[in-house]
Amino acid sequence: MRVPLVVGNWKMHGGPRQARELAQSLRDGVKRPRGVEVVVCPPFTALPAVAETLAGSAIGLGAQNCHWEDSGAFTGEVSPPMLVELGCRLVLLGHSERRHVFHETDDEINRKVAAALRHGLQPLLCVGETGEERRQGLTFTVVEGQLRAGWAGLSIEDMGRCTLAYEPVWAIGTGVNATPAQAGEVHGYLRGLMSQIGSKDLAQTIRILYGGSVKPENAADVTQEPDVDGVLVGGASLQAQSFIAIAKKSAAKGGAPKE
Ligand code: PGA
Repeated sequence: MRVPLVVGNWKMHGGPRQARELAQSLRDGVKRPRGVEVVVCPPFTALPAVAETLAGSAIGLGAQNCHWEDSGAFTGEVSPPMLVELGCRLVLLGHSERRHVFHETDDEINRKVAAALRHGLQPLLCVGETGEERRQGLTFTVVEGQLRAGWAGLSIEDMGRCTLAYEPVWAIGTGVNATPAQAGEVHGYLRGLMSQIGSKDLAQTIRILYGGSVKPENAADVTQEPDVDGVLVGGASLQAQSFIAIAKKSAAKGGAPKE
């Protein structure tokens, strides 16, 4: 059974002090999560403070990006071993803001996925179409291209160490979430594709999260979809109470109450 995963993407919000406070509230609110895994991805500069605050808690630590090299003359970049040293176990890759604001290419994202895996970090590969692409009927084409490119050259074993997130660009930070049916349709497509690229077993084990304007009010509905295995949360992850509520609602699917 795929245990639902709930990931908070704090984006570029807050320094160590603010992050420590938020992490403390989460730690107090999510003591013994059952039927759900919870991970937060603070900005790089807050990683040590959050790692310290969450030490010994049930909440995991992740990063929002990484470079593909281990070290070298790459001004401004942060490498996978640096993240591992800070206690990260997951890294977001190919987030739509990285693709659209910073023009990351599929090839760069693929290199990052491979580098993260080499260092034991779980890549959370994000895919999703823009509103215009959806209007043109290109949703499946776009997400298929992003998944195939992101996973290019990976062994089936490595694919199995990845997590996916379907994040329609038009739903991110807009307050307009995909309906459960819209998310379910794309998740089902991605799962079918994973069984073609990898194997049927692989497709059944990989978690596919939904992201885009997830809030406490819509988390239960979207995570009820059979192919939705949790959520990637931006804005609502910055408020401890709303993120905790989302984690609880996502856990219900796992059949066990939390706390
Ligand atoms: P949002 O962001 O929840 O604020 O829409 C989601 C994301 O960017 O991962």
